[in-house]
Amino acid sequence: MAFYFTGTGNSLYIAKRLDNRPISIPQVIHQPQLEFAADKIGIVAPVYGHEVPTMVKDFLKRARFQTDYFYMVLTYGNRHGGAAELAKQFCEECGITVSYINVILMADNWLPSFDMEEQQQIDKDVEGQLASILHDLNARKRMISEVTENDRAAHRQFLQFISQAPDDSWQNLIRITDSCVGCGICEKVCPSASIHLKDGKAVYIPGNCQTCFACTHACPQKAIGLTVPEKNPHARYRNEHISVQEIIQANSQRG
Ligand SMILES: Cc1cc2nc3c(=O)[nH]c(=O)nc-3n(C[C@H](O)[C@H](O)[C@H](O)COP(=O)(O)O)c2cc1C
Repeated sequence: MAFYFTGTGNSLYIAKRLDNRPISIPQVIHQPQLEFAADKIGIVAPVYGHEVPTMVKDFLKRARFQTDYFYMVLTYGNRHGGAAELAKQFCEECGITVSYINVILMADNWLPSFDMEEQQQIDKDVEGQLASILHDLNARKRMISEVTENDRAAHRQFLQFISQAPDDSWQNLIRITDSCVGCGICEKVCPSASIHLKDGKAVYIPGNCQTCFACTHACPQKAIGLTVPEKNPHARYRNEHISVQEIIQANSQRG
């Protein structure tokens, strides 16, 4: 059994390679009972600011897992900042005993810092990393991937940086432009119902946004941008193995 969260498909691709029928966290989180029992239970999620997304944290807090082997695989794009150690700490706070956490370097979908055209051209040897993780999981290896003092320092620096920004700045990143034609794809790929169509145009509703950028990357018109400068506003990303339809199935909160 494996659960996943995804904005642009990286984590869904990994989840699909680790499990035949991975379960979407934005869908399952609405169940009244979050009790799961299996021989092996995993979480696949992107790294956001060296941690897991808020919705994944909420799921970990509320769910009860009965298993002898709980694992996490965290996808990241550039600097994991000790994500494995931070995730382990968080799980322990939730009463979850973790057997294995690893990180996997993939395309970085963080638009302020990275050009998506460039990201798609860089070979990060995802298949090689994945083969090693699959080997570990088949062997039920017990390990938390290594975290260095530099990683911890990077996280401290990041915390210092965000402490200077207003609390709601993460909720004010999305900007819908006049190029919106009201196709509604952004509404369908949003895992937190933070975009709705009104009078034939997309409207962003802050408050519960996960900042996954699924809307921004999936918009066929490139009509969704950010309120902060982007490295390349003309380039968008989706994992090459994952379709828009799969992101919609994973995230849609309609109906
Ligand atoms: C809000 C946000 C924060 C991110 N923070 C980090 C980070 O701290 N370190 C990093 O290496 N990548 C970071 N990334 C990049 C993603 O972790 C990476 O691209 C991930 O594989 C995306 O997974 P997905 O395609 O399943 O959404 C961030 C991306 C977003 C959208």
